[in-house]
Amino acid sequence: MPLPFEHLTSAQQLSKEVVADVFAVADEMEKIWSSGKRSKLLEDKIIALLFYEPSSRTMLSFQAAVQGLSAGMELAHGRQNSSMEKGESIEDTIRMVARYSDLIVMRHPEAGSADKAASVSHVPFINAGDGGNQHPTQSLLDLYTIKKEKGSLDGLHVAFACDPLHSRTIRSLALALSQYNDIRFTFISPDSLRASSDMITELKNNSVSVEESTDLSVGLDTDILYMNRLQEERFEDHKEFEKYRDQYVLTADMLKGKDTLVMDPLPRVDEIATDVDDLPNAVYFDQARNGVLVRMALMAMLLGKA
Ligand code: CP
Repeated sequence: MPLPFEHLTSAQQLSKEVVADVFAVADEMEKIWSSGKRSKLLEDKIIALLFYEPSSRTMLSFQAAVQGLSAGMELAHGRQNSSMEKGESIEDTIRMVARYSDLIVMRHPEAGSADKAASVSHVPFINAGDGGNQHPTQSLLDLYTIKKEKGSLDGLHVAFACDPLHSRTIRSLALALSQYNDIRFTFISPDSLRASSDMITELKNNSVSVEESTDLSVGLDTDILYMNRLQEERFEDHKEFEKYRDQYVLTADMLKGKDTLVMDPLPRVDEIATDVDDLPNAVYFDQARNGVLVRMALMAMLLGKA
C-alpha cells in the first residue's frame, strides 16, 4: 500500500486513509511478531536510527522492528557521540547518512529539526520526536491501541493530563484524533501548563469540542485518560517543575468503579501510581508493544515493500 508521502514528520500527515492502511499492515506484522519468526521483507535494506535525545521505547521498538524485518541497522545514540557535537548541521548529517542507508529515523531535541532533515533527505525520513513539537509514530501506536481497545476512533471523549503545553505526544495525538467524528477533548493541567492557544484553535477548527480543567478527577469519567509526565527537560524554570511534579498522581483508588482506559506514552515518572498497573484500565505497556508493529508497518510501506 503506497503512502501519499515520502517522509513522515507530523501527525497532520496521518489522514484517516493513511491510518487505516498502516493498521492493516500492522495487523499483518502482528502475525509475524507474535510467531517469534522474522520476516525477510527488508533484508536488502539498511535503516539508520539517529537518536540525539534520550529514548528507550522509541529507539528500542524501532530496533526491534528493524530486526523483525531482517534489515541492516546503523545506530547513532547520543549527540555527544556524534559529529553534531563538533558543530555539524542537521542538514549535513542527513545528507551524509542518506548516502549510507535506505531510510532514516531521527529523534532530535530541536523543534523543527525533522522538517530540516526531511527537506534534504533523498531517502524516506521518519520523525521519532523533534523537541516539544511532534511525535507522529507515537500517535500511530496510540491510535492503533485505541482502535484495538475501543473498536473505533469516532465518538471518543479523551482527557489529556498533565503537561499539554510541553508534551509532543499529546499535541500529535490530539491533532491526529481531531479528524474523527464526534471527538471531545478535556485538557487537564495547572494554569501555566495549558495547551497552546494555536493548538486549541486548530482543534476547534476541526470541530472538536475542547474543555480545560485543573482537576484530574474530571478525567475519570472519560473514554480515555491519557496521562503524560511533566516534561522536565522542557521547563525554562526548574522551580516550576518542582512545584507541579506531585500535583497529578493517578491511583488505583481513584479508578474504583471507573472504566476509563488509562494510556501513557511513558516513561512514567510520578503521574501514575504503580498500583494502577494491574487494573484492567491500564493499557500503557501494551501500548508500548504496539509501537513495534506500527513501526514495522510504516518502514515497510515507506520502502515500498508492503
Ligand atoms: N514514548 C516515548 O517516546 O518514549 P521514549 O522517550 O522512551 O522513546
